[in-house]
Amino acid sequence: MKKNHNLLLAFILVLSSSLTAQKFEGLAKTPPMGWNSWNKFACNVSEKLIKETADAMVATGMQDVGYEYIVIDDCWQIGRDSLGFIVADPERFPSGIKALADYIHSKGLKFGIYSCAGDKTCGGRPGSRGYEYQDALMYAKWGVDYLKYDWCFTENLSGKGAYITMSKALKQAGRPIVFSLCEWGDNKPWLWAKEVGHLWRTTGDIYNCYDCIEDHGTWKSFGVMQILDKQDGLRQYAGPGHWNDPDMMQVGNGMSFNQERAHFTMWAMLAAPLISGNDLRSMSQQTLSVLTNREVIAINQDTLGIQGLKTAVTDSVETWLKPLADGSWALVYLNRSKSPKSITVDWKSFKVFDELSARTFDTTSKDVFIIRDLWLKKEIGDTRKPLQATIGVEDVLCLKITKKPVKSRK
Ligand code: GLA
Repeated sequence: MKKNHNLLLAFILVLSSSLTAQKFEGLAKTPPMGWNSWNKFACNVSEKLIKETADAMVATGMQDVGYEYIVIDDCWQIGRDSLGFIVADPERFPSGIKALADYIHSKGLKFGIYSCAGDKTCGGRPGSRGYEYQDALMYAKWGVDYLKYDWCFTENLSGKGAYITMSKALKQAGRPIVFSLCEWGDNKPWLWAKEVGHLWRTTGDIYNCYDCIEDHGTWKSFGVMQILDKQDGLRQYAGPGHWNDPDMMQVGNGMSFNQERAHFTMWAMLAAPLISGNDLRSMSQQTLSVLTNREVIAINQDTLGIQGLKTAVTDSVETWLKPLADGSWALVYLNRSKSPKSITVDWKSFKVFDELSARTFDTTSKDVFIIRDLWLKKEIGDTRKPLQATIGVEDVLCLKITKKPVKSRK
């Protein structure tokens, strides 16, 4: 009887350990920051491009403000060798992936790669299905720090199961690798992926437009505003080490200055991974100034890790709040319309309770709060009188609201 009991216990233990995932803890405590090749270059990737991008990330000062991961997306792989190991395209990556990873590490940056849970990647290259442990081992040997794992050609696969398999394979391989789930929100990863990976895509692909939907026939991709709207109801699932991912940024791929600023600000408010998707080697000063705004980045990288919330919409202007670790708040007004909008903020009646952080934004008391404009990069007054501002077409007003310290009398 005792023996049977022990056997049963062992069986339950084995079963439960195979059902719980084992992601690497302690990674992505704040949303990952970096660059990914897909939005700008699609399948046109090469070792030359990746090295030049790493050089540019350092030379432009992006590294100094926190960008860290250089991720090659689809189409680096060409086949498998006779033992089943994944093989990089020798024409595009003549020095091999290990040498490329070493180069990126030599710059003080981290290296990311892409694969897919299916038989093939979305670009038709070999996927990891059936090769998960072997691929994870290879990534660890190469010095990979980040894996984006896609969801094409996955007929009859369970979403949760497939991502748990790769999560375990990465853990077994022994190298701490940030695991980025990319199944477009199909299986509601926010409900189960907290222990599986460090970030999960919440939607289909971002399209290079600010406000549109692109219909590809069998699938659709979405503009910045459409992706933003799809984040509704997801904020309680994000936090340090496990983020909602509204996809890589399109900043620098042709939008107006206002749109770039709004896109970047909203990704900061969403506590989204800040993965740039433009050509870092040739971007304009304008784009660089958006991508490297330290004060907006600080909102995104805030250690409290609470995703922002939309608290009101008035005449096409949305109000967003994000509580910050030091007790202050980020407050953003997003003008969704095609004409400038004037707003008046009446601090005397501005009080909002955020259930998630259990904190109240409250400027109705006699405390005085300092208002800092994070794009003007200066203080613009305090909450003793109403704020009047005009927000440009498809632009934002991005503020930090901090309680003014009370001077102690000697
Ligand atoms: C999917 C992903 C994209 C990109 C491509 C590559 O569409 O969602 O982000 O990785 O595949 O083929």
